[in-house]
Amino acid sequence: MRRKVLLIIGLFGIVLSAIAQKLTSPDGNLTMDFHLTADKSPVYSLTYKGKTVIKESRMGFLVRPSYDFSSNFRIVETEEDASDTTWNTVWGQNSVVRDNHKELFVALEQENTGWKFNIRFRIFDDGLGFRYEFPVQKELRHFSLNEEVTEFQLAGDYKAFWIPADYDTNEFQITTSKLSEIPSLIDEARNEALACKSSTPNLAVQTPLMLKSDDGLYINIHEAALVNYPAMHLNLDAETFLMSAHLTPDKNGVKGYIQTGSVTPWRTIIVSDDARDILASNLIINLNEPCKIEDTSWIKPTKYVGVWWEYFTGGGSTWSYTDCQDIVIGKTDYTKLKPHGHHGANTSHVKEYIDFAAKHGFDAVLVEGWNEGWEDNYAYAKEYMYSFTKAYPDFDVKELQNYAASKGIKIIMHHETTSSVIDYERQMHDAFRFMKERGYDAVKTGYVGPIIPRSEHHDGQWMVNHYNRVVEEAAKYKIMVNSHEAVRPTGMYRTYPNWIAQESARGTEFESFNGIRQDHQTILPFTRLMGGPMDYTPGIFEGDLSVYGNNKAKVGTTLVKQLALYITMYSPLQMAADLYQNYEKHLDAFQFIKDVAVDWDNTYILEAEPGDYVTIARKARGKNEWFIGGITDENSRVAIINLDFLPKGKKYQATIYADGKKADWKDNPKDYIISNRKVSCKTVLKQKLAAGGGVAISIKEL
Ligand code: NOJ
Ligand code: CA
Repeated sequence: MRRKVLLIIGLFGIVLSAIAQKLTSPDGNLTMDFHLTADKSPVYSLTYKGKTVIKESRMGFLVRPSYDFSSNFRIVETEEDASDTTWNTVWGQNSVVRDNHKELFVALEQENTGWKFNIRFRIFDDGLGFRYEFPVQKELRHFSLNEEVTEFQLAGDYKAFWIPADYDTNEFQITTSKLSEIPSLIDEARNEALACKSSTPNLAVQTPLMLKSDDGLYINIHEAALVNYPAMHLNLDAETFLMSAHLTPDKNGVKGYIQTGSVTPWRTIIVSDDARDILASNLIINLNEPCKIEDTSWIKPTKYVGVWWEYFTGGGSTWSYTDCQDIVIGKTDYTKLKPHGHHGANTSHVKEYIDFAAKHGFDAVLVEGWNEGWEDNYAYAKEYMYSFTKAYPDFDVKELQNYAASKGIKIIMHHETTSSVIDYERQMHDAFRFMKERGYDAVKTGYVGPIIPRSEHHDGQWMVNHYNRVVEEAAKYKIMVNSHEAVRPTGMYRTYPNWIAQESARGTEFESFNGIRQDHQTILPFTRLMGGPMDYTPGIFEGDLSVYGNNKAKVGTTLVKQLALYITMYSPLQMAADLYQNYEKHLDAFQFIKDVAVDWDNTYILEAEPGDYVTIARKARGKNEWFIGGITDENSRVAIINLDFLPKGKKYQATIYADGKKADWKDNPKDYIISNRKVSCKTVLKQKLAAGGGVAISIKEL
């Protein structure tokens, strides 16, 4: 269905320009309204079941050095379209995704300059997306931005689940407050970040931003398909509740370099009066481009263990091989240096992990600290920070390749760049070739610290292009990528499904620094995970880190909540992060991690309230097996788990991993009970979750 309206310049055109263009969602619940104001500025607004979601909000740009590109427009043309299709995911929470939307395309021309941009709106039953498109035009070939003008005028003092804007990190604890309280809380929230931080000059927060209105509307603001453009933060006027785009600048303050013939990312507003619909939304992936990789057979959801957590426990194991300094990567002969004796990535230790992985049915072992360069990785003066092709003397690449292959295990490569990005790009192709020749097909990349030598920001356009380039180049080598400290995801994994996961939020490593608050994992699905899967690295069974000697931190969950995270934190890449010795002490509970799938045919959001609880059921892809995870915040609760998603007329065996009667994240995290019972689609389970606790269930057909 396509309706095109060419507006004739003159009186008729002016009249039509002033008339609102309406776009209504397929189910009729959402209505978007677009028009030009008296000063001929493009504005939009959005309602849901008659309630205001976004009041009249401006659109456009401020162009450098000082041109207004947001008013004085005329509408040249509008076009309406509708589409209802389905597509198959390479991996995902569902094997089939429906994309049912209506579209409004508006072509605009600025009257005083003749400059043009178009706006494409797409409305779905669960929200609105829009993007700007810059047609190729004689008067304007390329330009740079002072800001994007896009506004989100909220209708009230909503409850917000937010982290402070920051051009370089998103590894914050999430704060829950009214919008009006953000000014008094933001400094505290900022100071609490550990990683590289560069707080923004404005009162601003990051996306995905989750909001809840007093009258029960759930609103999520984010973006989709971030390509060749900086990530968007949101400025806040805490009195009027006006939020507006705040693009990440480059090192000179430029907020984006545009060449006409391009499009911006989509701005997304997901809305419902039921929090579960936010988690079930496919709007962001639907706004991303279809898969660009032709043969995807090599892309495999992966469950892994690794030489990793021991670096955080305080037990003494290190990434580095020696205490010697003054090392020049590529020149220093490590075999001549004295090892300090507690290097984690040594051949025999890695073999222990390979044995454990093989014995318990895992796919892969991550090994960090295998390569030259970890001795003084904060010495920013170095031209080459690490070698990505030279292993430490005690890590026998060939032997481990053969050993892992003989056991059917893959080794996951690690490329920590400490943000020496030019250096990484210089080595990248050699590094990927090195991997392929030695049987590696996945890499965990890392961007700890400031970007050297350019002082760009992690979330700026230059780095966005870098992350995307790494994933594109990796695809040519059939390599999957799990990026840490990169810009938060925007659904790009649809286009490049080899981008198997990202970190880009506070993950389990923080349990070993200063702990993670109990509500954190109930908010992440509504914020960070809206853009894509997270390598959260759950599965810590020994939550008292003082057992290792030097760390007083306590994991902020019960053991069972760690199990439930395999379901509530969606990812096709899941780590069993604890030391394997801790799993050997609890093999009964470990069975859930062994059994749990990492790829799904269907997902059922059973219960959800941001900040309080999340209960999700999923059907394993291609198997008649279901897994359920339920988590709660610092309050204990009873989860009501309705199994009506199970196919009718059959009996099933459920294994329930529950918090014990005396379980509590703080004082008694390891108290758990495992029970079995027969269930059917008529069963409704009432499961008690401890404070900071959870429930995990596996279901098989009898
Ligand atoms: C930070 C990452 O998030 C963590 O997983 C990794 O171990 C360290 N950087 C070292 O690369
Ligand atoms: Ca990190």
